[in-house]
Amino acid sequence: MAEKIKIYVTRRIPDAGLELLRKNHPQFEMNPEDRILTRSELLEKVRGLDGLLSLLTDKIDGEVMDAAGPRLKVIANHAVGFDNVDLPAATQRGILVTNTPGVLTDATADHAWALLFAAARRIPESEKFLRAGKFTGWGPLMFLGGDITGRTLGIIGAGRIGHSVAMKSKGFGMRVLYTDEVANPALEQEIGAQKVSLEELLRESDFVSVHVPLLPSTRHFINQETLRLMKKTAYLVNTSRGPVIDEAALAEALRDGVIAGAALDVFENEPAVHPELLKLDNLVLTPHTASATVATRNKMATMAASNLIAALAGQQPPNLVNDEVWGKHRT
Ligand code: DGY
Repeated sequence: MAEKIKIYVTRRIPDAGLELLRKNHPQFEMNPEDRILTRSELLEKVRGLDGLLSLLTDKIDGEVMDAAGPRLKVIANHAVGFDNVDLPAATQRGILVTNTPGVLTDATADHAWALLFAAARRIPESEKFLRAGKFTGWGPLMFLGGDITGRTLGIIGAGRIGHSVAMKSKGFGMRVLYTDEVANPALEQEIGAQKVSLEELLRESDFVSVHVPLLPSTRHFINQETLRLMKKTAYLVNTSRGPVIDEAALAEALRDGVIAGAALDVFENEPAVHPELLKLDNLVLTPHTASATVATRNKMATMAASNLIAALAGQQPPNLVNDEVWGKHRT
């Protein structure tokens, strides 16, 4: 008798995805607690799996893949980013890796805007002041921030999310600069965005929003040197991956007035936040929630489950990131 397909979900995901899994593979298992598995739990739980549904908080490296063993056919990551998965290690072992692109583009771009506004108009800082009972009347010098309408927006990485952030600037009549390895002609045509060098973008932008994947080449590419190129009145927003910014350098720049402010949704050593950042008022922080809307998370869960189900049915999963594995797949 054929052995049952073994699937493990590392943490509870929205019901839309779980229902799909239940319908196709009612025997699937899931971490019953709403918390990140420890390393030893993860290594134990993956044993003998055919399919793993992982989150961006799970480090899926060669050790995990070897602990799973030769049956592991697919790692379906519940995120568009997949820097938590060692892709070469998966490819070498013939394991399909999938992600959830597209469905979180607008939610993430909306959040980048929420952060930009919150930083420029000092929303958390002034709300704290008000709640503390310190508001004794309107003041001409109270909580002065930065203008947004008509200013220059710099987009680092004009892929899906960067493009969406740029498009949303239309309502604010902003000039848009972008930097990317490849040109984005649609963005240029639609809103007259200009492709410039990173240096020019940093020098000219009033707001810089980061949308690059985490790669060896993007790690700490916002650092002391690049921060010093920015205007003293500029704001930095990051909704991509934490390690693209050197947090110690950012804390110093914010403290010393090298830039006016920043807003971060992602952190270098998540869930830890650099202690110097926590001391600053000219910084807005959210806990990696840029894609956290009900509809978006349902779509991500459905997408991750569909990718897993397709791969286990011997079909090419719709959001395969290591295409080269498909050709030589072990089915
Ligand atoms: C992702 O999907 O990569 C985001 O960081 C979380 O939604």
